[in-house]
Amino acid sequence: AQRYRVAAIPGDGIGKEVVPEGLRCLRAAADTYGFALDVEEFGFASADYWVRHGRMMPEDWRDVLGGFDAIFFGAVGWPEAVPDHVSLWGSLLRMRRDFDQYVNLRPVRLLRGVRSPLRDHRPGDIDFYVVRENTEGEYSSIGGRIFEGTERETVLQETVMTRVGVDRVLRYAFELADARPRRRLTWATKSNGISISMPYWDERAGEMALRYPRVRADKDHIDILAAKFVLRPEQYDVVVASNLFGDILSDLGPACTGTIGVAPSANINPDRRYPSLFEPVHGSAPDIAGLGVADPVGQIWSGAMMLEHLGESAAAAAVVAAIESVLEEHPEVRTPDLGGDATTVALGSAIARRITAGAPAGAGRVA
Ligand code: NAD
Ligand code: IPM
Ligand code: MN
Repeated sequence: AQRYRVAAIPGDGIGKEVVPEGLRCLRAAADTYGFALDVEEFGFASADYWVRHGRMMPEDWRDVLGGFDAIFFGAVGWPEAVPDHVSLWGSLLRMRRDFDQYVNLRPVRLLRGVRSPLRDHRPGDIDFYVVRENTEGEYSSIGGRIFEGTERETVLQETVMTRVGVDRVLRYAFELADARPRRRLTWATKSNGISISMPYWDERAGEMALRYPRVRADKDHIDILAAKFVLRPEQYDVVVASNLFGDILSDLGPACTGTIGVAPSANINPDRRYPSLFEPVHGSAPDIAGLGVADPVGQIWSGAMMLEHLGESAAAAAVVAAIESVLEEHPEVRTPDLGGDATTVALGSAIARRITAGAPAGAGRVA
């Protein structure tokens, strides 16, 4: 049987609660669909590791993780122990950048069995992708403070857009849109106000659009785009955005589909030179950590995206189908964010059992 090596990194907070459920479902999928997962778990990228070692990851983390087929990640961040920018730049953001995971693919879909807070939306109505640039843009380390402590104290942080960096994420998004039935693409911009980088982004997007004549492409400024996510989410198909705009849209989208607890993401290195990293969109949720009530669906669906990436498409589709049928048919295992009172383990176990029972007819779509 095919074997895959997976590095599991639970991280902090609810990451430690949802990763085991993700692994439970992945193991159920491996047993049912006839492949093997060699999972190795790592305790770094966490506040515990920071307290013991004064850093977020071992010095040789690139060698430690570089040989894995994929990284299955929970969440990192425990601001009580480590400032967020230190913990994030010492782990997740470092991995995205050094492993050149330049696409952050974040599906936004209203699942069966989940209620949208928006009026009159049914499963199937909201079904799009946020394609987020993941290695440059507003997330740059270039800048600093000058004249500190004086009246002229000044803080600068530069946005970086490279032609290679912009074009490659745009190309990925256009390819994705071209392969979807509706063939629509929207690029997020703010070229009316951010007068240097965003007009460049528009220029590159306009140029890329010429190469994809079948894709209906247009732009929306980020302010109205945010409003339209709420007012008319059904009109979106593929939305491509810079690092920061993509970050914001990928919490807003899932909120419109009911809860950010179900939202998955794939941090992809499309060249496959480095491992890709799969994690839920949400963070470590210190407010509910330790209570055992975090929604594990975002982690489990991220696992499905990982299986798809590894080439196990049937298993991946079965995992998503299992998520949807459990949410629809078993309200008694919904976690509080889904309107129920069940635990993380109850929902994760129910989905794992459903996977083992085999894919229902018309199995789910991963991405
Ligand atoms: P968050 O996503 O952790 O939590 C936001 C809100 O959503 C909280 O009320 C939380 O309880 C709820 N929530 C999140 N996931 C949930 C789930 N699976 N089930 C039920 N409810 C859920 O965002 P935050 O509060 O801004 O950040 C908390 C910490 O996580 C910070 O340290 C932040 O930097 C970090 N963070 C990490 C990642 C990541 O590792 N990818 C992502 C976002 C935030
Ligand atoms: C995400 C998170 C991270 C980001 C934070 C924790 C740095 O919000 O994965 O969406 O901004 O990319
Ligand atoms: Mn985010």
